[in-house]
Amino acid sequence: MIKASNISFSFKEFDTIAELGSQDRELLISAREAAMNAYAPYSGYKVGAAVRLESGKIVKGTNVENAAFPSGICAERSALSNVSSNYPGDNPVTIALAAMTEAGLTNEPVSPCGNCRQVIVEEEIRSGKSIRIILSSKNKIQVIEKGGDLLPLQFSRNNLPVNPC
Ligand code: THU
Repeated sequence: MIKASNISFSFKEFDTIAELGSQDRELLISAREAAMNAYAPYSGYKVGAAVRLESGKIVKGTNVENAAFPSGICAERSALSNVSSNYPGDNPVTIALAAMTEAGLTNEPVSPCGNCRQVIVEEEIRSGKSIRIILSSKNKIQVIEKGGDLLPLQFSRNNLPVNPC
């Protein structure tokens, strides 16, 4: 028998950074600052990510490109690898993203690529807590309550036969 299913999620949208709460505003400013440090000579698309940890600490990351294109890394994974390596146990609570080109902040909000969505979801499962995601452009900010919303029908450790340690 065919069963029709549906997946949907809600998110909040704002026009300006001033409409965010002070913590999120600070985080998004950090993401914008990080974007300025990105190494993106091949795409010209500079991305900054800022992760707020449970302790309140902010950890930044940028995309770092490479002449051998697949060797580059996105800002989200750069920031989350930094968290995992240097602040084990201090779980990510929110990740804010901003992107810029030569013309300044982008017109469309930067949204995590598929690889990064998978990594964000892994962190959510690892910590047992959802990670809020703040996407942004010059005039639009979107707040998504959990990374899993961006990766429906995801592949996860639950698909594997061996339980993780
Ligand atoms: N990029 C990120 O760093 N994060 C995203 O969410 C989307 C894409 C980077 C990868 C590459 O260096 C450049 O943006 C263009 O795709």
